[in-house]
Amino acid sequence: MKIKTSAFVVSNSDVAKCPVSHLPEYAFIGRSNVGKSSLINMLTGRKSLAKVSGKPGKTRLINHFLINDNWHLVDLPGYGYAKVSKQEKKTFQKYITAYFEKRQQLVNTFILIDCRHEPQPIDLEFLEWMGTNAIPFSLVFTKADKLKPQALEKNVAEYKAKLMETWEELPPYFITSSANQTGRDDILNYIQSINET
Ligand code: GTP
Ligand code: MG
Repeated sequence: MKIKTSAFVVSNSDVAKCPVSHLPEYAFIGRSNVGKSSLINMLTGRKSLAKVSGKPGKTRLINHFLINDNWHLVDLPGYGYAKVSKQEKKTFQKYITAYFEKRQQLVNTFILIDCRHEPQPIDLEFLEWMGTNAIPFSLVFTKADKLKPQALEKNVAEYKAKLMETWEELPPYFITSSANQTGRDDILNYIQSINET
């Protein structure tokens, strides 16, 4: 898929205020600082469509972007950021949960995983929650440029092995680097193939 246009639509913390639309929607979520906003910029070919920061906890709202006038891309706040207050965590959790439970247009969620780290309980719990609630998702291993090919392969294999302990089937997964565009075509073509069915 070629990205011809991409535009910021709206940010909010209330799923009821998300754009009223029948367009298919694709969300990006993962631990704070995993590279969600960078990936969105890489996919859209825009330098700063989504706000990127070295400090975790940058994205705090549900952010809608309109792509090619025919689908929505959604940048969600990161989960698991230790420096966010308990109250704030609860608030995040509430509106993210509401988003997943209520957003009918949501077609697929890309769950981002930093390829350098071994499986983290918070991510595995989130995958479990998505599975229990029958919300379709794929995995995106980020920051692939930070590892040598062999180490990357080993980490991905370990991750898959961990998932196989509890899942009967592995979700689709992508290996990406926002620094050098790895995985861009794979993800965009995947979205296109779903949009066309
Ligand atoms: P929050 O909004 O805080 O949850 O973070 P986020 O998941 O949106 O991450 P963001 O895109 O802001 O990136 C966090 C940091 O990781 C930034 O310093 C990015 O430059 C860096 N980063 C993101 N993706 C990559 C990548 O593919 N390779 C490298 N080397 N660094 C990356
Ligand atoms: Mg972000």
